[in-house]
Amino acid sequence: MPKLWVGADLHLDHLNRLDYTAFKGSLMAKQPPEAILIAGDIGLGGQALGYLLDIQRAVDVPIYFVLGNHDFYCGAYVADGYIRNCAETVHAPVHYLFDRPYKLFDKTYVVGVDGIGDCGYGAPLSSEAWGMLNDFNWIHELRHDLTREERVEYLQERGRIQARRLKSSVHSCASMADRIIVLTHVPPFPQSCIHRGKQSSPSWLPFFASMYMGDTLIELARLYPDIQFHVYCGHTHEFARYEPTNNLIVHTLGAEYEHPKFEVVKY
Ligand SMILES: [Fe+2]
Ligand SMILES: [Fe+2]
Repeated sequence: MPKLWVGADLHLDHLNRLDYTAFKGSLMAKQPPEAILIAGDIGLGGQALGYLLDIQRAVDVPIYFVLGNHDFYCGAYVADGYIRNCAETVHAPVHYLFDRPYKLFDKTYVVGVDGIGDCGYGAPLSSEAWGMLNDFNWIHELRHDLTREERVEYLQERGRIQARRLKSSVHSCASMADRIIVLTHVPPFPQSCIHRGKQSSPSWLPFFASMYMGDTLIELARLYPDIQFHVYCGHTHEFARYEPTNNLIVHTLGAEYEHPKFEVVKY
């Protein structure tokens, strides 16, 4: 039975050098999986690829990943193109899920997009989160001299673009798949966006869940009823499991700063 390691919100920049070495050692000591899937917030700013190459060297299996908001801090969302180019040119099986599917094993494919809090759910314009989220200080596209309305428009448009890329990745492998694993950083449904045991409020849902991703997943699950869709996401750091249709399951992976870990999933 093929085994995967699935993780989100590793935040490896929170480990000191000794703990980082111990983390890599702990990975080497385990029975390796077929592949490792990582759903964003790997490090800070441009560190993600360096960390991924370290993990790949330690475990020696392919890695498939998307990026989270922290992976763009001190930088810009436009860096996704640069990171994609770098991932494609390194001589290691480290794959940034962007706009194409990859075959994992027998009739099982993995696709993904970063995802973003796309201001689709909740009440973005009146949200109390504006002054409290680091994203607005540390991500270039969100911090220049834009009005609240312009930022909402930008986030919604980025959400729509990513949802279209996800759709096209799924279409291109659907005829060969009976299972599609979807990686994305931000939970696609309010029911998968949990904070302290409760669904996030309308103030926080705009930035912690992705409506365009959720709508697209429902559309794809209905269009392809014979395919099982398994979504893995993170961002809230709090576990949730939501099954909106009988062929679509969304797992929000729990996480704790300074304690990076992977879940073992068997198929
Ligand atoms: Fe995170
Ligand atoms: Fe995040």
